Amino acid sequence: MLEEFKNDVIEGLSRITNKALPSKYFYDKRGDDLFVKITQLPEYYLTRAEMEIFQKRTADIIAALDLDSKKRYSLVELGAGDGTKTVHLLRALVEGNFDFEYLPVDISSDALDGIAAFLNAELPALAIKPSHSDYFKALENFKQDGTAKIILFLGSNIGNLTDDQATEFIYRLGSSLGVGDKIILGVDLKKAKEIILPAYNDQQGVTAEFNLNLLDRMNRELGTNFKRTGFIHAPIYDEEVGIAKSYIKSLQRQSVTLGRHRFSFAKDELIHLEVSRKYDDDVVKQILSRTDITWEHKITDSNNFFADYILQRN
Ligand SMILES: C[S@@+](CC[C@H](N)C(=O)[O-])C[C@H]1O[C@@H](n2cnc3c(N)ncnc32)[C@H](O)[C@@H]1O
Repeated sequence: MLEEFKNDVIEGLSRITNKALPSKYFYDKRGDDLFVKITQLPEYYLTRAEMEIFQKRTADIIAALDLDSKKRYSLVELGAGDGTKTVHLLRALVEGNFDFEYLPVDISSDALDGIAAFLNAELPALAIKPSHSDYFKALENFKQDGTAKIILFLGSNIGNLTDDQATEFIYRLGSSLGVGDKIILGVDLKKAKEIILPAYNDQQGVTAEFNLNLLDRMNRELGTNFKRTGFIHAPIYDEEVGIAKSYIKSLQRQSVTLGRHRFSFAKDELIHLEVSRKYDDDVVKQILSRTDITWEHKITDSNNFFADYILQRN
């Protein structure tokens, strides 16, 4: 994984224009801890909104999944994180005597260790099989093995993909699933900039710390020599299209080395880190229109900030 990290950094920072780093590298131990802090910030409504869906509308989710009590299910969660939302669904399924196992997939081994310990304590009877993998790679292993599958892709993780990448991802996901398998897709809905932008630029600076932690990670793991004081966190939200973007901005002309590689930054040059797409029904329909997946149900929180779409493979 270190070699891949290094290659991605060299590729993304050697560019003359449009420098970029993949956001999946946010999640080292400190990144995981900072993300959990972000989910508790007053400005970060996303987790609270989806938590409300998983706590208060668990019965609606289970009804929408239309489960067969005689079948065995694999519940696969892509980018599982800390599992604090999923536990409500898992508990209801255990209490409903459904036959299933839970397979969290995450690129962060710390996140997987955390979720396994958390679920062992909360639901000792639950069968859990963590998988340390990039979820794009995990899709390849899902082969149609005969178990009915329910895929969870929560927290608007899909929003980190462009619409074309999301279509490709859902298409590939569909080809690894059997007819009738389900997907629970959690997405952040389009809304006013005044609500969205502070979620990526909180007053306490935790999100800034989360983004800039990537510089520390590169220094520690790859031996780069980024100076933290030379860069700031710079998010934007394009309300017309519905996309938030996170950048790191270079405050001065400077260069950074990685072994024999030297990356030059102009004053005010941006390094793109992450897109966070916001959705409405039209965007979701557009993405699904080029896949074998259809939209069966939509469950929202009471503010209509967030939606979990229940989708089905045809
Ligand atoms: C923003 S957090 C969301 C966690 C959880 N789904 C939620 O809704 O709270 C993203 C999680 O996905 C994981 N992740 C990000 N990119 C990934 C990838 N390409 N493959 C596997 N896991 C990934 C991260 O390690 C992190 O735990």
